[in-house]
Amino acid sequence: MSEPLLQLRDVRAGYGDAVVLDGVSLDLPENGSLAVLGRNGVGKSTLFLTIMGYTNFRRGNIAWKGQDITRMAPHLRARLGIGWVAQEREIFPSLTVEENLTVAARPGRWTLEAIYQMLPRLLERKTNMGNQLSGGEQQMLAVARTLMTNPSLLILDEPMEGLAPIIVEEIAGLIRKMIAESGTTVILAEQHAELALSMTQNVIVLERGTIVHSAKSADMLKDTAAIDRYIGLRVAAVGSAART
Ligand SMILES: Nc1ncnc2c1ncn2[C@@H]1O[C@H](COP(=O)(O)OP(=O)(O)O)[C@@H](O)[C@H]1O
Ligand SMILES: [Mg+2]
Repeated sequence: MSEPLLQLRDVRAGYGDAVVLDGVSLDLPENGSLAVLGRNGVGKSTLFLTIMGYTNFRRGNIAWKGQDITRMAPHLRARLGIGWVAQEREIFPSLTVEENLTVAARPGRWTLEAIYQMLPRLLERKTNMGNQLSGGEQQMLAVARTLMTNPSLLILDEPMEGLAPIIVEEIAGLIRKMIAESGTTVILAEQHAELALSMTQNVIVLERGTIVHSAKSADMLKDTAAIDRYIGLRVAAVGSAART
């Protein structure tokens, strides 16, 4: 069996004195895709911040292709190929779309041409400033900008949050395409369980900073009892995905 791309072992981490994640272990194979589900405040973003090196790390370890990166500085993790799109969609408001895309670009499969081909809307908007974009366009730009760094792993923190259903569908299509066609390894946090399950191979569910359920996404998708138990009221895959 080949080495996992990313491996967490018994990770405990948080902010200052507060422990948020506890005993988290996971293996992500190359070309894998993992949904991270759980209600608000269970620690999904904290898990990603910990993978990127931004939390107070207490115990356990993190390995990237077998190399221990537990204490590695965040910018070096990014350079290794861990791409992260924060929940806050950090784009540069006073740079153009094209400048946003090229500012941190690194050589690889994802070039400006490839991005514009996949997301023609960004091509149309390439001379607009970041702050002139709609929420959905900003989200596309945030994902595309990280893709331009040609990461081996792409971590997406609730990329569909707060977007209108039609945009949700578009972003979901983009992520599906990345997983299927480019073999990009993806970790996806989502509030919309069924949507995320339909897009990924494996799933973990967090509750209060601990993994309480782990399954093949296709199996959990059929397991409505588990979805109800862990996520609460089920939401239709796309129809009601936009939060108001
Ligand atoms: N910067 C922070 N400082 C202290 N506590 C935080 C911080 N960010 C998040 N938390 C706490 O960590 C817990 C998990 O939050 P978070 O990881 O954002 O959950 P999720 O992404 O699943 O909604 C929450 O109790 C939240 O209040
Ligand atoms: Mg979050």
